[in-house]
Amino acid sequence: MTERQEFEATDIAASTDPKFVAPERKVFMRTYGCQMNVYDSNRMTDVLGPQGYTATENLEDADLVILNTCHIREKAAEKVYSELGRIRKVKEARALDGKDMMIGVAGCVAQAEGEEISRRAPIVDMVFGPQSYHRLPKILAEAATGKTVIETEFDIDAKFEHLSAQAAQPERKRAPAAFLTVQEGCDKFCTFCVVPYTRGAEVSRSVEQIVTEAGQMAAGGVREITLLGQNVNGWHGKAPDGSTWGLGRLVRRLSEIEGLDRLRYTTSHPRDMDDELIDAHRDLKTLMPYLHLPVQSGSDKILAAMNRKHTRDEYFRLIDRIRDASPDIALSCDFIVGFPGETDQDFQDTMDLIRRVEFGSAFSFKYSQRPGTPGATMTDQVPEDVKSARLAELQALVANQQTAFNASRMGMTCDVLFERKGRNTGQIVGKSPWLQPVPVDGPDSLIGTIQPVEITGIGSNSLFGRLVAGHHASVSSTDAIKEAVFDA
Ligand code: SAH
Ligand code: SF4
Ligand code: F3S
Repeated sequence: MTERQEFEATDIAASTDPKFVAPERKVFMRTYGCQMNVYDSNRMTDVLGPQGYTATENLEDADLVILNTCHIREKAAEKVYSELGRIRKVKEARALDGKDMMIGVAGCVAQAEGEEISRRAPIVDMVFGPQSYHRLPKILAEAATGKTVIETEFDIDAKFEHLSAQAAQPERKRAPAAFLTVQEGCDKFCTFCVVPYTRGAEVSRSVEQIVTEAGQMAAGGVREITLLGQNVNGWHGKAPDGSTWGLGRLVRRLSEIEGLDRLRYTTSHPRDMDDELIDAHRDLKTLMPYLHLPVQSGSDKILAAMNRKHTRDEYFRLIDRIRDASPDIALSCDFIVGFPGETDQDFQDTMDLIRRVEFGSAFSFKYSQRPGTPGATMTDQVPEDVKSARLAELQALVANQQTAFNASRMGMTCDVLFERKGRNTGQIVGKSPWLQPVPVDGPDSLIGTIQPVEITGIGSNSLFGRLVAGHHASVSSTDAIKEAVFDA
């Protein structure tokens, strides 16, 4: 053990002493994959703060590097190893200056590959899965003794209990829009997907935990919360009276929180889209008119082989019910092309589904064989060039639909929550109700507020607009409503 490592082991242990002041250190965190990893990375930063760590964007300055990884497709997983190669060089350069660098691999690759990671990349000091982030101080202390730490236990309840407490810093200034994980893991076992293996069985957080965390976020300046779960509309949490609520009820409860003007949720499974949640889209102004509802394929044969547990007709009927409740809703989707056994006709069924539904946007992927999933060993794998051609065809159709959806917003005035400065000076950027970025000319003081914007142009993703004159007050919409009532 080096002297520096010894020093680290003791000072981490000492950090439970209230008089203890941790030495300043820098952590470089890189996040891959879904929004849940973004939420987790933020919670890891919360846990590391009291250990003396502040974030750096500069790898060369980092005393600690954490890669929060994604295992969903082969390319995502392989990125980790190329990144570790780059990090090794920086670590070696730092060592010449007598500086140490601890390296941790977190997230879904850590969960799926465990020890294999440190075998392939011996510079890695710690491998820890998504359920162990609350134990980070202990993991760091152990790694500082020179031992390679591998932590891949499933204990989601403990994770949330501890991370919530860490996040409870009401005085902390927060971004106007933030994620809140309400459900983790998945019991659906789609035959292409690693998530049930990397995140474990479905666990829903309780109403009380979620309402408390959302309240703290709102008190810290968060105006929009996106509720996260791998299967978020399957959330069923315990309420204080002992009953079990569904997501529709939860969203209603969260809408009552002072200062919380906007709610979203992602990702939903078509099977779990119940009436209560659909009604919430009709009834609640806070629930934004945007829904990401992956269907993956438009062919009943492929849907069955994927174990998606619904047919294309059921999906169409569901979309009709959602549009009845919220005619203006922007629908988004995920598609996989080239699942084993997908014929040209199956693919054309998917294209037909897209034409019929008309999406506001969509993500699409070439099927990737994932070790340990049933799809990986299916015969009839589709050749790579066929997958590429189908993906290009599908993406062209979706791009047209996205442009059409955005064009239909031209001339409308809509509320925009401003989140950050734009690339050009004097520009700020926010999000429309339908989730497109909206850059406008306006003062920084409007960041964190919701303002009406007239849409004057469209880009491939963005809507361009201008602030509607006379509405530039730097207040939240709740404050604005209170003021209006007071004036009357
Ligand atoms: N829980 C979400 C999404 C999980 S992963 C859901 O059920 O919709 C996000 C997307 O990645 C999936 O919707 C799917 O389109 C894609 N995906 C998952 N596994 C994949 C694989 N093996 N190959 C290609 N795309 C995949
Ligand atoms: Fe994966 Fe299917 Fe679960 Fe989504 S619902 S996380 S695609 S297994
Ligand atoms: Fe990737 Fe894990 Fe999310 S595999 S998509 S980071 S749940």
